[in-house]
Order: sequence, then C-alpha cells, then structure tokens
Amino acid sequence: MPRISTVVSFTLAILLAVVWALPASASSLHGIAKRGKRVFNENCVACHQAEAIGKPGIAPSLTNPQLLSIASDKFLFETISKGRKDTAMPAWGDQLGKKKIRAVIAYLRSYAKGPNRSTEVNAERRSMGNAKLGKIWFDGICAHCHGIYGQGYAADGSGTAIGGSDFLRLASDGFIRQTITFGRDNTRMRPFHNSAALANLTKSEIDDVIKYMRTLRIPEDL
Ligand code: HEC
Ligand code: HEC
Repeated sequence: MPRISTVVSFTLAILLAVVWALPASASSLHGIAKRGKRVFNENCVACHQAEAIGKPGIAPSLTNPQLLSIASDKFLFETISKGRKDTAMPAWGDQLGKKKIRAVIAYLRSYAKGPNRSTEVNAERRSMGNAKLGKIWFDGICAHCHGIYGQGYAADGSGTAIGGSDFLRLASDGFIRQTITFGRDNTRMRPFHNSAALANLTKSEIDDVIKYMRTLRIPEDL
C-alpha cells in the first residue's frame, strides 16, 4: 500500500520537522538573551542594579513593564550606544559594538509583561499644547524630582534628565505622553492622569507639559 505509507512518512516527516524546529528557535532566543544577561552583568549592573530594577538617584529601571512597552528597539539601541550627555549614562557603542548591544536589548525585553507598542505610541499625534501653561505644571510638580531645567539627578532628585538633548531627540511626544499618563510601576514616577498621585492632569494639560519640555535646555555651567 504505497499511498498509505507515503502519507504516513509524510506526516512523520512534518512531525519531526516541527519537533526539531520548536526547541531550536526557543533556544536561539534564549541564547541571545542569555548572552545579553552576561553583557548586562559585566557592564551595566553597577548602576542599573540586578535585573535592572534601577535605584533612585543612580540609574533608572530598564526592566520596567511600562518602559519596555513604549520604548522601541531604536530608542534603546541609540540610548545605549550614544549614552546621555550631561548624565552618568556612558556611550557604549565603541566598547560593546552592535551585536552585544542587541543582545542586551533582547535580555531586557525578556522582562516585558505585554506587547511592544512602540510603533503605535511613536505614531501618536504631536502635542499642540501651550508651553507657557506647561511651564507652570513642570515647575510646580515635575521639577521637584527632575530639576527645574530637567537636569535630573544633577538636581539631587530621583527623576532622570528629561531636559537632556539625547533624551528629547529620541523620545517621541507619544513616548512622553504615555509616561506622564501611566507612570512607571514600582518607581517614583507616578501616573499623572486619572490618578490620586501628586497631581491629576487632563490630557490637554499633559500636552502643555510636553510642549514646554521641548523648550528645555540644560545650562552648560550647571
Ligand atoms: C516623585 C518624583 C517624580 C515626579 C514628581 C515626576 N517624576 Fe518623572 N520620573 C521620576 C523617576 C524616578 C523616573 C525614572 C523611573 C526609574 O527610575 O526607573 C521618571 C521618569 C520620567 C520620564 C521618562 C524619562 C526617561 O529617561 O525615559 C518622563 C518623560 C517623566 N518622568 C516626566 C515627568 C513629568 C513631565 C513630570 C511632571 C508632570 C514628572 N515626571 C514628575 C520621578 C518623578
Ligand atoms: C555609570 C552608571 C551607568 C552605567 C554603567 C550604565 N548606565 Fe544606563 N543610565 C545611567 C543613568 C544615570 C541613566 C539616566 C540618565 C538620565 O538622567 O537621563 C541611564 C539611562 C539608561 C537608559 C534609558 C532608560 C530610560 O528610562 O529611558 C538605558 C536604556 C540604559 N541606561 C541602558 C544601559 C545599559 C544597557 C548599560 C550597560 C551596557 C548601561 N545603561 C550602563 C547610568 C548608567
């Protein structure tokens, strides 16, 4: 019965292929994330802490679910390779090279709790807010942790340098809007919309803050 044996061997071949392919792809993902963990523990852990949970005043969390859901690979890659001027975050591009940086990103992404929404977030409309009104909120609420110029830890606060040119160049209005709206779990960055945090900002007030942030410059002589 040649036809049955053909069907049987065909089915067997497919089954074998599936069984073979499954652990192979799973282990290659595991492999790159595992290499990334090593790179992280050798170069980043001193500031970003074990499992990249961060430490206020030293370095932010990189395994935070909100950050991972809105940060694109480009945002992470550029931040890691070029660093952040006027902050303690060094540029790693020359020392690590592209492969190791991609491995670190794969390691960080292994902590994600939901889908990567960065494409959708980066396509959000730009802020049409009023910078003058935004300044009032920024100085009244945000400056307490981020500094009056958004200079971050340099102002002895817990917040990062959101007035820094490297951050502002890479962060879209959608990225900033999502961060202000939803905050970052288990850090001092609270949600500022529909929340009982320090302030409850409306959507248009959040856009005013974004517009003001776009005017921030950290003075050279700070
Ligand atoms: C109580 C302190 C605190 C206040 C007040 C605060 N933040 Fe933050 N913010 C933080 C911390 C801390 C982080 C980084 C989280 C971490 O350490 O992982 C952060 C992160 C951010 C980020 C992401 C920066 C990055 O590097 O990715 C943005 C944007 C931001 N805050 C905007 C604001 C704005 C705008 C306000 C005012 C409406 C504000 N924050 C008020 C503490 C604060
Ligand atoms: C000497 C301390 C230090 C080391 C080492 C360090 N970082 Fe950072 N990193 C920082 C600081 C401080 C910031 C926040 C800078 C600011 O205020 O914007 C930061 C920010 C970041 C951000 C942006 C996070 C956000 O919320 O937007 C990423 C991504 C990052 N670091 C990745 C890494 C990786 C990967 C390594 C290792 C290859 C590393 N860092 C090593 C201090 C460090």
